Amino acid sequence: MSCAPLRGPAGQGDRVRVETVAYVGSFADPGALPRTGWAEIAFVGRSNVGKSSLINTLLGRRGVARTSNKPGKTRTANFFVVNDSLCFVDMPGYGYAHVSKEERSTWRRLLERYLGGRETLRGVVHLLDVRHAPARSDVDFFRALAEAGRPCCLVFNKVDKLSRGSVRGAIAGHLRVLGPDPGTAVIAFSSETGEGRKELWSWITNNLEMA
Ligand code: GTP
Ligand code: MG
Repeated sequence: MSCAPLRGPAGQGDRVRVETVAYVGSFADPGALPRTGWAEIAFVGRSNVGKSSLINTLLGRRGVARTSNKPGKTRTANFFVVNDSLCFVDMPGYGYAHVSKEERSTWRRLLERYLGGRETLRGVVHLLDVRHAPARSDVDFFRALAEAGRPCCLVFNKVDKLSRGSVRGAIAGHLRVLGPDPGTAVIAFSSETGEGRKELWSWITNNLEMA
């Protein structure tokens, strides 16, 4: 299995140039995920938190990952190969009540099986909305990631919706609820302004180098 590092020096997210993005496909069946051979970074979080938008922001392209102002847009694991070097996986959101029980349980199985057992998964970007205290589902999910031993980066998204002065305090409060291990990466992000893009690319490239 080849897991080539992303082109661009580690720790220098500002230097990463996205040259190519190839859509691999969308997969709902946890037992039938593709074997791309690339190292993978997954994007997880509650519905509507901005996972697909964040992927587009990282890629510097509009509309690669489909977004919507209604929750429940992403309903499958969507795979994209970046620079022929690594794979981004856009996941359905958890905690969304307005889908059928059956579909919710398929998503849960997809997430559990993928995050628990995927050999090529090198890191998980866990998004939370900076405006809201973490919900029970966020805390449970965050702990499950830690138990699965997955390197995780906490991204507090939509910081453009808060005043600059209140972001730091909001994040500190959310971290008290989540209780991450010391050393866990924490990034304030906005797909509206691009804040945090460079830092998140750095985390991704460093993580791939260390794998
Ligand atoms: P699901 O696929 O339903 O799980 O949602 P998602 O997490 O992929 O969210 P998506 O990227 O579709 O964005 C949801 C809504 O939030 C859209 O209306 C986006 O325009 C908006 N949004 C996403 N990121 C940001 C951000 O950083 N700032 C602001 N202001 N809005 C954002
Ligand atoms: Mg989505």
